[in-house]
Amino acid sequence: MPPQVRFQQILDWDSPRQKARLRQELAAGLLQPQACIAPKFFYDKLGSRLFEAITELPEYYPTRTEAAIFAEHLSAIRQALGEDFTLIDLGCGSCGKAGRLFHAGVRPARYVAVDISVDFMRDSLQQLKRELPAVEMIGIGADFTHELQLPDDLPAARRMFFYPGSSIGNFSPPEAGRFLRRLAAQMDASGGLLIGVDLIKDAALLDAAYDDALGVTAAFNRNLLRHVNARLDADFDIGDWRHVAFYNAAEARIEMYLEARRALSASWPDSTGRSLRHFAAGERIHTENSYKYSPEGFTALLASAGFADIQLWTDPRAWFALFFARRAG
Ligand code: AVI
Repeated sequence: MPPQVRFQQILDWDSPRQKARLRQELAAGLLQPQACIAPKFFYDKLGSRLFEAITELPEYYPTRTEAAIFAEHLSAIRQALGEDFTLIDLGCGSCGKAGRLFHAGVRPARYVAVDISVDFMRDSLQQLKRELPAVEMIGIGADFTHELQLPDDLPAARRMFFYPGSSIGNFSPPEAGRFLRRLAAQMDASGGLLIGVDLIKDAALLDAAYDDALGVTAAFNRNLLRHVNARLDADFDIGDWRHVAFYNAAEARIEMYLEARRALSASWPDSTGRSLRHFAAGERIHTENSYKYSPEGFTALLASAGFADIQLWTDPRAWFALFFARRAG
């Protein structure tokens, strides 16, 4: 029999209740003067694969820079994590980052993989379990940005939350603060947080990282509409939408949009029939922000969210930072 993974609280994107909730959320965003669709719609199975492809692009430096920091500071990171801990991987994706840590000798007692892209997570975790049968593995399909229900029998001691890749940047700073506070509340003083954060840098580097020459980020952005069509029966014509991404230095964030190539309308089912939104040529749907921090700014955010003993490792160009912090006593 193949080694077993335990799956819990699998988010069912297709349950009627969940669909109604998602349609309401879609309508609320699309009917605002500045239309928006939440970035969680990027991550169906194809979107997760496109994101994996982004991480291999020459322009998208965060993943490889973070990996180099891990390699360079592995023994300090291993020491910070300690022994007999539970690694809780938030937004595990392909489980590649955790897998590389495990293969480099970081061995948790148990690994909890959490992701909104349920099918992708399930396949990835089963593969990792085949490679490392001795590590207990639990998969949780959840939108952990809203709420994270950990299994009741998960030991309270030495919970190490792992949030790499600067996904924290996809929250606004106040939302990030609230999210970090919720994590702090889920650990005791023996727990910790290992988190990757993209740093403020030259705008040209940032612009290229989010608008690559091959057009993979454009495909990732436009796939959000394909996902919304497939999942919620909307009728966006994907060819009508152009990818737009740029660095807004005043706000220290990348802003990502889909821009209508011509005047058009899109519709989706609602409780009474269908809702409709018209878009003028050039009008945009906001799909994502990706905030960048200074080392001092993120240290202050961690401290204000209830963390202490903050350690920080960075790369020689100071493009990316890895933080480890414990819950303040
Ligand atoms: C998942 N997240 C950290 C990515 C980022 O860099 O903000 C998402 C992404 N969007 C476009 N490229 C990558």
